[in-house]
Amino acid sequence: MRLLLIGAPGAGKGTQAERLAARFGIAHISSGDLLRQHVRDQTALGRTVKSYVDNGDLVPDGVVMDMLRKPVVAAAQGYVLDGFPRTVEQAEASYAAVRSLGVEVQAAIHLDVPREDLIRRLLARRRGTEDAEAVVEHRLQVYQEKTVPLLAYYAGREWMSTVDGSRSADAVHDDIVRRIQRLAAFVTIAPA
Ligand code: AP5
Ligand code: MG
Repeated sequence: MRLLLIGAPGAGKGTQAERLAARFGIAHISSGDLLRQHVRDQTALGRTVKSYVDNGDLVPDGVVMDMLRKPVVAAAQGYVLDGFPRTVEQAEASYAAVRSLGVEVQAAIHLDVPREDLIRRLLARRRGTEDAEAVVEHRLQVYQEKTVPLLAYYAGREWMSTVDGSRSADAVHDDIVRRIQRLAAFVTIAPA
């Protein structure tokens, strides 16, 4: 099974991706977690992306796509991709790349959460510089400008679902699983 989770900062992409990965035995691939790991390890890539991540700006497309290619291709049982694609450009460029490998996405879930809840969750978490109040504001603005157009681009596709992400993590998980099962009734979603 190959899934995408799309949602604003704090929408619960990481939380839900972890549960889905455990439930379906697929790889959890988080672009943000991988980038933060590079920053912590002070790799060449980490030094390139640090200021983008700290400031809440998107890292250049080529950097993210190069970083994700290997884990996506290696995910033999499938994957849940958390935080990618984030723009229409990333969606278009990656589709061409993964299609030729037969590992294109089969379902996308948009986690919809009101802005007040997002801010409350992120300020309570304080993961680092990126959860400072001004940076949270900026990340939400980047989401509006760059990722909301991606939702419009995917709108109306039968494999795309919007889920109310403001409920408990358990309720959101159960809803996502139901959506996937419903979708599986008319498209083939099986381990890759
Ligand atoms: P990324 O790591 O993807 O960050 P983000 O989108 O800002 O989202 P978060 O990880 O902060 O939130 P989340 O949706 O995963 O929610 P979580 O489960 O953690 O990206 C970081 C940076 O990397 C970007 O700013 C950019 O610089 C770069 N980057 C990443 N991908 C990129 C790309 N494709 N292109 C270019 N640049 C890229 O939950 C948040 C909090 O809420 C937690 O404390 C959690 O416990 C809590 N919570 C979760 N669910 C619930 C619930 N149902 N009820 C109550 N609390 C909940
Ligand atoms: Mg996350």
